[in-house]
Amino acid sequence: MSDLAPFLQTLRERLTLSEVIRPHVRLARKGREHTGLCPFHKEKTPSFTVSDEKGFYHCFGCGAHGDIFDFVMQKQNMPFIEVVELLASLLGLEVPKRKVESSPNMPQSQPETSLYEVMEAACRWYQQQLSLTNGATARTYFEGRGLLPETIERFRLGYAPERGLQEALQKQGYSFEIMKKAGLIGQSEENESTYDRFRSRLMFPICDGKNRIIAFGGRILKEGEPKYLNSPDTPLFIKGKTLYAYNIALPTLRQSEDKDASFIVVEGYMDVIAMHQNGLKAAVAPLGTALTPEQMMLLWRGTNEPILCFDGDAAGKRAAWRAAQRVLSILRVGQTLRFCFLPEGEDPDSLLRSGRINELRQVFRNPQPLVNVLWSIFIQDRLLSTPEQKAMARRDLGHLMQEIADPDVRHFYREELNNRLQDVFDVKKRDSDRLRLKFEQKKSFSTSKSPFSGDSAAAALSLYRPIPNKNRLGYKILLATLINHPTLIEDTAESLIGFEDSLNEYEELRQVLLSIVAEKPTILALELRTILQQKGFAPILEELLTTQLYFHAPFAKETSTHEEALAGLKEVWSSTIDKSRLDEEESMVATAVARSFDGSDWEKLKYLKNQRFKKDEK
Ligand code: UTP
Ligand code: MN
Repeated sequence: MSDLAPFLQTLRERLTLSEVIRPHVRLARKGREHTGLCPFHKEKTPSFTVSDEKGFYHCFGCGAHGDIFDFVMQKQNMPFIEVVELLASLLGLEVPKRKVESSPNMPQSQPETSLYEVMEAACRWYQQQLSLTNGATARTYFEGRGLLPETIERFRLGYAPERGLQEALQKQGYSFEIMKKAGLIGQSEENESTYDRFRSRLMFPICDGKNRIIAFGGRILKEGEPKYLNSPDTPLFIKGKTLYAYNIALPTLRQSEDKDASFIVVEGYMDVIAMHQNGLKAAVAPLGTALTPEQMMLLWRGTNEPILCFDGDAAGKRAAWRAAQRVLSILRVGQTLRFCFLPEGEDPDSLLRSGRINELRQVFRNPQPLVNVLWSIFIQDRLLSTPEQKAMARRDLGHLMQEIADPDVRHFYREELNNRLQDVFDVKKRDSDRLRLKFEQKKSFSTSKSPFSGDSAAAALSLYRPIPNKNRLGYKILLATLINHPTLIEDTAESLIGFEDSLNEYEELRQVLLSIVAEKPTILALELRTILQQKGFAPILEELLTTQLYFHAPFAKETSTHEEALAGLKEVWSSTIDKSRLDEEESMVATAVARSFDGSDWEKLKYLKNQRFKKDEK
């Protein structure tokens, strides 16, 4: 890219940094510099300064620092070369063509014939090495990981021994120069001696859209670092613009009769290969980095809604969040991403190896839309009690939505997410009204034990416990709330354990909830749902998590906060579940309520309860 340097200098000279930043930050002049609120972290007093003279910005708060290119890259989440194009277009300039066109997964306009040839020759040599005596360990390794000979053939897997590639290629007439350019050999800076880049590694060739080899990934055979070594970027290969097995998956998708078929993006080479071997041939993988916008665009050539598959652990969620944020600026009508999460500690390869293909299929069959992932991570751990916190949430959401470049898509995302946020605020308000009411009633009732012991309001409500068998709604609300707020399960576990009822249709779900949470008390709702779906509870989830149920019990929604869900849970528990301490005098009222509850009228139940409170107080 060095031939671009003079052009970059031109851009730096002709554009004014503060002018480029101004649409994003309200800047005030301060001497020779400009200052404003840093766009890269939250702050109330300006610590972001811009110096047009020096051509740099710097934030004294978070340390963000860079030049005009860095700013756009960071702010817009754009790759360097696109930033150059964007800035050039502001001046009406064209980016000078680089000598070699390199967009590997796309058709090449100017193929570098000899580079492709040397890569092909290297691949053949690695394949051959795998079949020789020397390659026995590598063969055993592949076998041990369950790869069939035809799979090894299809993916042209090979073995790079300690040495030998350069000599072999040299004999075939290739120069060191071309081998170096292709990233196959390195050269020591001290004595200029050359060495094979890949040594004692299992070789995974990486192809462009035309099945030409443009790079290799090499997995270490024994212990050691790095586990995977990739080719460096070369004129044929740019890592961030390439997807592993795209050359196989794209034609598969295009030929597929299945309307729902879509790319499935997994993490590793071995995952792609194992999936392919098990008939899941639309799998691709990035090359050890987070998915780039270019790679997303490649995916959209084959499907409008590719599925990204992440590990169910915290790192997986972070990666999902990164991808979700990254795609916003390039979303277009009809083109989006979907997400699914694997059980923690598993990858597709490990699931397939242990015969859990159905579980894996189930995961892919139930992907989450982008909006859910955005929402779920946005709302997670957010405080929403004070007006300031609410305002902050609204503003953050606004900023997030601002990333969406397409006006139509932005409009609907904004509407949807603002509604969800408003729902949270509303539920919050209803619940606090209810709590106030309960406290006013507090003195009128004696306490009785509830799973949330010490809460007299809950105890008060326990006066009206209808009979559970007659009203499944109460139990359904309870389960729905716990599924959407799994962190509450631990608190209620003791009571939930006592609730065993082998005749109950939700008995299995109850047990599974308890065991999942016993293993991981901090599990997120999104994860829990995924696991439940994998375990075959999808139909039950559908039956439980309905708009109708949420209408009766808004606190059960995933969007309600922890406290709201807890308050609601206490109420539903004491009014419908904890029937054991009904005394005679109260049972009549309870029956009346139960009847109305059977009519699925949660609001009415609350009304009746309030009436009763008022009467008692007089
Ligand atoms: P993982 O470490 O998850 O490995 O890396 P894996 O794919 O499960 O490999 P096995 O099963 O141990 O063989 C996932 C992907 O990240 C990239 C590779 O593309 C790998 O397939 N990676 C990983 C690297 O590029 N370099 C590394 O050192 C490690
Ligand atoms: Mn693996």
